[in-house]
Order: sequence, then structure tokens, then C-alpha cells
Amino acid sequence: MDQQSFIQNLPKIELHMHIEGSLEPEMMFELSKRNNISLPFHSPEEVRKAYEFDDLQSFLDIYYQGANVLIHEKDFYDLTWAYLLRCKQDNVIHTEIFFDPQTHLERGIDFGVVVGGIDRALTDGKKKLGISSQLIMCFLRHLDEESAFETLAQSLPYKDKIIGVGLDSSELGHPPEKFQRVFDESLKHGYKTVAHAGEEGPASNITNALVLLNISRIDHGVRCVEDSVLVNQLIESRMPLTVCPLSNVKLKVFESMEQHNIVELLKKGLCVTVNSDDPAYFGGYMNDNFNAIARSLYVTNEQLAQFSFNAVEASFVDDIHKTEMKTQITDYLVQSGVI
Ligand code: HPA
Ligand code: ZN
Repeated sequence: MDQQSFIQNLPKIELHMHIEGSLEPEMMFELSKRNNISLPFHSPEEVRKAYEFDDLQSFLDIYYQGANVLIHEKDFYDLTWAYLLRCKQDNVIHTEIFFDPQTHLERGIDFGVVVGGIDRALTDGKKKLGISSQLIMCFLRHLDEESAFETLAQSLPYKDKIIGVGLDSSELGHPPEKFQRVFDESLKHGYKTVAHAGEEGPASNITNALVLLNISRIDHGVRCVEDSVLVNQLIESRMPLTVCPLSNVKLKVFESMEQHNIVELLKKGLCVTVNSDDPAYFGGYMNDNFNAIARSLYVTNEQLAQFSFNAVEASFVDDIHKTEMKTQITDYLVQSGVI
């Protein structure tokens, strides 16, 4: 079996995907018409051409603009449903998705409209596609602590639908310590915590996110290699890293996929996982990310499967569900002659 076919049928788990980042240009246009929102582009092709980024900020500017077309509950449903159909195509069996409440609250959209639409699609995803899921809300780190506290308060009536809180947007200039109090409060409410750290920012952001924000996973984290003490600590604690290879190349965290350190991190024994981040903007969904690794870096099928096992370990589901997913992956390895 060639590696591409192995990847296609490998059961996969996604832990780092911003639902607003799965808005494909075609849907952006459809929603702009449906909701009478004007776009600074004339066609989906023109939008795609604008997706050349120099860094994280140049992407975020376009990404927040795109999200303006999302208004009604059905828009959030349609967006999430389209992503779940792509998960099905890529044999993603479980996904834990991010959303950015502040991007929508700022435009006068109700928290309940956003969560309602996403959650209804996730429920249908479980029922009709057999894909399990969790939902994580992210605080935008370029906004202030007060806004994060307000967002936390607004989330509480929907707590049963949200497993945790995260931290995204511009890492440079907005370190984890800015959100220590709101993360403390989130933990008190029973939310799990994760944070983007060590994407564009230094390794010290990872250390501070671990110590001050009590996170259960590091989103990105690829710059951990700049601190060997930290790397050893991550190996020993099995602290998961949700790495996004295509995103990192698109946003110039690495010059090319050949330079990416994901396989090196895996070989060191870190709990590394593969994720798509903002698939509509960065050139692909889960299988595209796995294929990009396989094409540019030397990796065995066993190592590719290890990314899936790591993601099960890092997921926010109970032990019974973890065992079920691990069995699915193992069965696949036996069936395809890898073990
Ligand atoms: N980094 C920070 N913020 C984000 C990202 C990312 O990769 N994607 C969407 N928001
Ligand atoms: Zn991200």
C-alpha cells in the first residue's frame, strides 16, 4: 500500500482547528449574498489569490474579515457541517474544535447563536456521520483581560456544550501572563485550558503557559526546541503539542516543509499531533497535512499512526472512548500489515 492510501484510511483525531478558519471562499461568497454583507473581493478565486501571508498577523487580518459574513445560527451550522463532511472524507473520527466568541460578540451576535449553530451541527455529526467532538472557546489575546472575563461570563449558560478555553490570535506582544486571572477563573468553573504558545513567540511563552495557565495541551509549541530543559520536561510529562504543519509553512514559522521539526519532535518522544489549524486558509485539511509530512520528511507508517495514538491520549474524552479509538487505530494497523 502506498503511503497516501495508508494516510487516507488511517483513523485520525483533530485537536487544533478554528471553525472560522474552515470558511471556504465559496461559502464566504454564498453567505455574503445571503446576509447582504459586502466583501472586498469579486470572486472566490480572487479571495484565494489573497491568501499569501508574511506572518501570523497578515493572516489574522484577512481571517477576521472573512468571519464577518457569519450572522445567523444557520450560518454557524452550515460552516460546521461543511467541516464535518470534510472530516468524514478524511476519516477523522473525533475532533475538538475552537471558536472565537469575541469575533462575533463584537459584531452584536449573541453567544447563543454561535454556540447553538455549531453545537447543532456537532450533534448531527455524531448522529449522521459517527464523528464525536468537543468544543473549546478561545480568548483573543490581542483584546484585553476585561473582554476575556466578559466572554467567560457569557459562556456560562452554555457550559454544558463547551469543554474548555483556549488562547489564540497575535502571540507577539500578548504573552500568557496577561490572561492568568481569567484562566484561573475558567478552571474554577470546570473548564479545561489550552493555549497557543511557541508558534511565533519564544519558548518562554510555552513555559509560562504551562506554569501560569495550567494548560492541558500546547497549541503549536514548535519553538520548544529553543529550550532543552523545557523539551525534556515535555517528554517526561507527555504534555501534548497540537502541531499544524501546513499552517506553519504558510505563516513562515518554517521556511519549507522540509525544514519542519514535527518528525524530529516525535522521534524525541514528545506527544506530538497533526492538525489543520485553519484549513480553508492554509491549503488543506487533515489528510493534506499528513500527506505534506509524508512527501517532505522521512516518516514511516508506524510513525504516522503514532500521531493518531498521541491525539487519542491528548483528547478530552473519557477512558472508555479513548480505548475505543485506540482499538480502531490498532485494528487498522493489523489490517494494513504494519504490525
Ligand atoms: N495562531 C493564532 N491565532 C489563530 C490561529 C493561529 O494559528 N489560527 C486562528 N487564530
Ligand atoms: Zn490555531
